[in-house]
Amino acid sequence: MNETSAFRPALEHALNHSLAHLESLEHSPVAARASLHTLRERLLKPLNSEGMPAEQVIDELVADTAGGIMGSAGGRFFGWVIGGSLPAALAADWLTSAWDQNAASYACSPAEAVIEEACGDWLKDLLGLPDHASFALTSGCQMAHVTALAAARNALLAKRGWQVERDGLFGAPKIRILSSDQFHGSITRATRLLGMGTDSVTGLRTNQAGQLDAATLELALENSPDTPTIVLLQAGDLNIGAYDCFADLIPLAHRYNAWVHVDGAFGLWANVSARYKHLLSGVEHADSWSTDGHKWLNVPYDSGFAFVAHPQAHRNAMSYEASYISHNDQVREQKDWNPDWSRRGRGVATYAALRQLGRRGVAALIDGCCDAAHSLVTGISALPGAELMWEPQINQGLVRFLDPRPGATESDHDEWTDALTNAVLASGEALFSNTTWRGKRCMRVSVCNWQTNGQDVARAIAAVAQALRELDRGDRHDSPRSRPTFRV
Ligand SMILES: Cc1ncc(COP(=O)(O)O)c(C=O)c1O
Repeated sequence: MNETSAFRPALEHALNHSLAHLESLEHSPVAARASLHTLRERLLKPLNSEGMPAEQVIDELVADTAGGIMGSAGGRFFGWVIGGSLPAALAADWLTSAWDQNAASYACSPAEAVIEEACGDWLKDLLGLPDHASFALTSGCQMAHVTALAAARNALLAKRGWQVERDGLFGAPKIRILSSDQFHGSITRATRLLGMGTDSVTGLRTNQAGQLDAATLELALENSPDTPTIVLLQAGDLNIGAYDCFADLIPLAHRYNAWVHVDGAFGLWANVSARYKHLLSGVEHADSWSTDGHKWLNVPYDSGFAFVAHPQAHRNAMSYEASYISHNDQVREQKDWNPDWSRRGRGVATYAALRQLGRRGVAALIDGCCDAAHSLVTGISALPGAELMWEPQINQGLVRFLDPRPGATESDHDEWTDALTNAVLASGEALFSNTTWRGKRCMRVSVCNWQTNGQDVARAIAAVAQALRELDRGDRHDSPRSRPTFRV
């Protein structure tokens, strides 16, 4: 057996299993069916003392995970904000593993380094960010925030004569983050990782449109104008996809010498669409931005992007030079911009996704998801007992379900809404997640998958209608209707 053929059986089995999975998505339940107990029973085996053929490992892996894999790669998955994978991106991701390059530096993989240069250029162009911005390909938006906010923190403190890179944070002036109250939890965690602490974040009240008002921000800035400040703005908040008004807020924040960071985990992608671009007007004047490839671009996990308008601050926060690594001034050394050192060549899948779609294809993907979200949310809201809470402006909407029993209270409606979402999930026809928005439980509808089509939308609406009927009749054991007592 030559060396190459040692890989063939396992890879061929993996290919066949992968195709079987992807090609069955249309007909399979969207939610996982296997219980925690079953999965533990199958997967928590004693570690075998002897090895086994690689293809057997793959076959058993597939058998043992059966029923525990969500249908998130398919077109009827509308939970959280989770994209699928484009064919070229998925295939390129496999190649990335086959090549097994260390994407830390040019010396470890010249091709990967240049692929990332291309990704940076294309992404800045598509997202409407300045040419001179530096960038990093991170594991997700969480680490993109950490990367960008490390640059922000160090730059703000450097202006006050404090060099974080050398001196750390003990004794440093405190930094505050002013944001709308709709900020994502990944910001909270970034403040913990960066030594700024969760108390550094102040969530300011948003208006009816879910946006931070200029007057509210100005009041907060004025409150302590000399405190080093990061203003965090939303390009698509997690519940309703709200956009702060960048054209007003960024110049205002800059008047107070604040650093403006934009969380655009999915919302930054609206810039590629002629229909939605206006939502991002002025965003290019921010100081840093974070977004994801694994959400709306439909690149496999893990794929996030950080961009910083001040490359020196970014580089100071991240770079490292070591005697055992050669440095080449002609190239972009990825580890000078990333929080990690050795890592996978995650640029390859992004490169492939952008090549497969082209500029027009990315725009069509964004428009298509927004159209599907609109049809889904308005279709579901038209069902008896459903209430439209947020009509999608982009690809996110909210619906609430009203308990039809006389005297039902807000908390009954909350329970009814959760029960309805669970009933749809149990049907296997579609999957939505829940959220609490403005104090009320809602079904959160998010469309991020390139595969979602009109049939998927119709099927999902029919599944919700069916679940509503079952709930109303008390058919389901977990239906609030089937409970013997009822509060009034
Ligand atoms: C608005 C927003 N910001 C940040 C994140 C974090 O992104 P990631 O999971 O890629 O780290 C998410 C979603 O998970 C999000 O919706």
